[in-house]
Amino acid sequence: MDEPYLLFTYTDGLGSVPPIVDQFMTANFDLCKGIIVSGNRNFGHAFFGRAGDLLAAQYGIPLIEKVEMRGTPANYEAITDYYYSIWKEASI
Ligand SMILES: Cc1cc2nc3c(=O)[nH]c(=O)nc-3n(C[C@H](O)[C@H](O)[C@H](O)COP(=O)(O)O)c2cc1C
Repeated sequence: MDEPYLLFTYTDGLGSVPPIVDQFMTANFDLCKGIIVSGNRNFGHAFFGRAGDLLAAQYGIPLIEKVEMRGTPANYEAITDYYYSIWKEASI
């Protein structure tokens, strides 16, 4: 990555970071401004979207939102608000 971005990752087995995302972040964490994670509550509260918790803690990057299935209007609003807080001049 050569410009700031938001990471949107899924969560893998037992609440882990997908290996390909792990590799990507090792190389690109410095320009990552926020993390959004998808997951499924069927895996239990401790594991839901845990890839986002782990990456946020490892790199000190804000975890913006955890999203399940299609997400909610509240997810959309939180992500949009954060996007504009970072890229004030940008428009979607
Ligand atoms: C093998 C496997 C393990 C998974 N483990 C977790 C998990 O530990 N925590 C979690 O929140 N979601 C888990 N998921 C759900 C995925 O993160 C989810 O499928 C992904 O975020 C995409 O969402 P969608 O299936 O609703 O499109 C797992 C999915 C698979 C297939």
